[in-house]
Amino acid sequence: MKITVIGAGNVGATAAQRIAEKEFANEVVLVDVIEGMPQGKGLDMYESAPIEGFDSRVIGTNSFDQTANSEIVLITAGIARKPGMSRDDLQATNANIVKTVTQQAVAKSPQAILIVVSNPLDVMTYVAKKVSGFERHRVIGMAGVLDSARFRTFISMELNVSVEDISAFVLGGHGDSMVPLPRYSTVAGIPLPDLMDKATIERLVKRTRDGGIEIVNFLKTGSAYYAPSAAAVEMIESIVKDKKRILPCAAWLEGEYGLKDVYCGVPIKIGRKGMEEIIQIKLTPEEQTALNKSAEDVRANIAKLNI
Ligand code: LAC
Repeated sequence: MKITVIGAGNVGATAAQRIAEKEFANEVVLVDVIEGMPQGKGLDMYESAPIEGFDSRVIGTNSFDQTANSEIVLITAGIARKPGMSRDDLQATNANIVKTVTQQAVAKSPQAILIVVSNPLDVMTYVAKKVSGFERHRVIGMAGVLDSARFRTFISMELNVSVEDISAFVLGGHGDSMVPLPRYSTVAGIPLPDLMDKATIERLVKRTRDGGIEIVNFLKTGSAYYAPSAAAVEMIESIVKDKKRILPCAAWLEGEYGLKDVYCGVPIKIGRKGMEEIIQIKLTPEEQTALNKSAEDVRANIAKLNI
């Protein structure tokens, strides 16, 4: 298994470290345009191998030549938010970056599965799909795993129970209109509405929606990376081990959930072939309306693209 991580910033470098430490690939290639940075971070990571006890080789480079024949390409390249910015404010800059790196990556790894993390997430996943020309099962966006991890964390803080017993469900785009679904979120199988009053759930839902900006406001110079990289690597694990996890991911919809030709967060089965199935659940009219609105926000941003 060979995995390329594009972008050696905080998300990319942390993802590469997690992939290497978990030995999900024999070779992890970290690529960035900045001279010396991927080489330095890659070598530094490699030198942690004897201590951490892993045998993944980590290679940092400025050239896509070394990425050739990767089975998975994780795209994290692009600028991050600063306080006062929405994810959509990144669109014009990051669309060009994601376009360029996708072209270079797929030229070397035409069989790869692409996982996109760059923001605005759903639109950038569309850019990667359009530029690569890949089928939809090989171009997936990471957002739902992160958003539901945040929701799970906040539920755990509130109830003082293990995060491991909590599963949470978040649909929709990775933006202000994302759709956390409390009735499908459970603690040891017990639906959330049986455990908390409405106002508490609403508070946690709001904090989940604002989860990205909460971190940006603390950091001031960038956005979250520990949880985003962990989320991307959970998707990678399911591909590498063909686990067929059901994870909320940004998927290209062709009629599922009544939505067509748009990327949107839905539960998918993810395995060695990439997206192996879209899981459709029955939504209430309110939930469907919220999902439609979230998808329309993504669609409106896709329409603004100039690629
Ligand atoms: C976040 C950014 C990375 O949600 O989208 O933290």
